[in-house]
Amino acid sequence: MNRVYIKTYGCQMNERDSEAVAAQLRGRGYAVVDDEHSADIVLLNTCAVREQAEQKAIGKSGHLAKRKRTNPNFVLGLMGCMVQNRGTDLLEKLPDLDLLVGTQKFHRVPQMLDQFISSQKGLGPRPATLVDLEEEEGSEETIREHTSDERQVSAFVSIMQGCNMHCTFCIVPKTRGAERYRSMDSICEEIEELVSQGTKEVTLLGQIVNSFGMRQIPYKAGISPFVQLLERVNAIEGLERIRFTSPHPRGFQKDLVEAYGRLEKLMPYVHLPVQSGSDSMLKRMRRPYTRRRFFEIVDQLREVRPNICLSTDIIVGFPGETEEEFEATRSLFEEVGFDMAFIFKYSERGGTKSADMGDDVSAEIKDYRNKALLEILGESSLRRNESMIGTVQDVLLEGPARKGEGKFVGRNPGNRKVIVSATPRLVGQIVPVKVDAATVSILTGELCLTGIDETAAGSLSQNL
Ligand code: 5AD
Repeated sequence: MNRVYIKTYGCQMNERDSEAVAAQLRGRGYAVVDDEHSADIVLLNTCAVREQAEQKAIGKSGHLAKRKRTNPNFVLGLMGCMVQNRGTDLLEKLPDLDLLVGTQKFHRVPQMLDQFISSQKGLGPRPATLVDLEEEEGSEETIREHTSDERQVSAFVSIMQGCNMHCTFCIVPKTRGAERYRSMDSICEEIEELVSQGTKEVTLLGQIVNSFGMRQIPYKAGISPFVQLLERVNAIEGLERIRFTSPHPRGFQKDLVEAYGRLEKLMPYVHLPVQSGSDSMLKRMRRPYTRRRFFEIVDQLREVRPNICLSTDIIVGFPGETEEEFEATRSLFEEVGFDMAFIFKYSERGGTKSADMGDDVSAEIKDYRNKALLEILGESSLRRNESMIGTVQDVLLEGPARKGEGKFVGRNPGNRKVIVSATPRLVGQIVPVKVDAATVSILTGELCLTGIDETAAGSLSQNL
């Protein structure tokens, strides 16, 4: 059986795309393996958001290409955002690539690989590099297969592809194209199928999820298409938890805030990228909201769910970022008190609007600003986590922890990782855990059988 190894760079959308490719390949008789060295086909699913991500994938490809010298049947393919961004220019540096697959063509990978396998069986010549970077209508519906080899307690579900925003720093509209939405029916069917196989939690994925269905699905009594989708997913029997990533502050309207008050499966955790706390910077970034509006959304969310957990993305060192502008970001960051954040140093991307503004903030200043925010984050997430010591958290157990005999890992509603001693039979269940210790990123605790009703306690202890 041909053995394929897939390595993924970048965001959850990329992870999900890789997972769908893996499922499609398995369905066609390929073995998808975890060990790069035992594979005769390696696919890299790439990211283009920052220069560093591209360099990593290019470096790895150069290294892997050497395997062709000793194994003439070895197949090396690149997929995804960097491929869409750089196209066949990649072949100048990496002439040994066998496959270049764009972001709307993941579902073509099995057919493409089949051509190499046929040639190995003497059924035709080995193809030259196969390139497919075209747009394809309907391709948003092709990211729906999940591998049924193992049960996914928590699964990603792609609801849309592409982005219609024009953030000046961002390459994604170029790599992912314009917004395309899946149908609510097919999304719900996919989730029902997952639930029938034991999935308890879904994370709905899209570049800007709250744009879902815009100008295609009508509002209903003031409810946006995205919130209509959340309502439908909330009604799926057997599903316990709903998350999504990422929304944009621009479309974070009242209906979405209120959804947190009425949809019981919607978990109290929002990843809401702010990028900057300075209005002048937000303007230069073409982010159509203000610092004040961001605070307003945070306040509204906290009113509906006082313990809601918040995370964000921030870019430091965007062109022209002054001390004063950074100070505005720093103060917003401190005042909100995020549970989690991804802080990025600005990376100039050819073809974006901000590439014309010059990358004029020095590496030292970017570094300093990055560290300043990381320090605040460390303090605020530790404070938030420590406040949970002594409380009982509902934890959805996902599987064995990477370290520790008999230890399992799960997440609380606020998306914090929790480590607890348990048994394999409890995987996939929501169990009460009394938290006894906290670090910046992890809670640990003990299963807690008191404080829950007797039948639940009975069935839990039977499972133990
Ligand atoms: N430089 C640095 N960070 C970037 N991001 C997007 N483009 C760039 C860039 N050119 C960050 C944003 C976005 C996250 C996924 O990546 O913060 O929300």
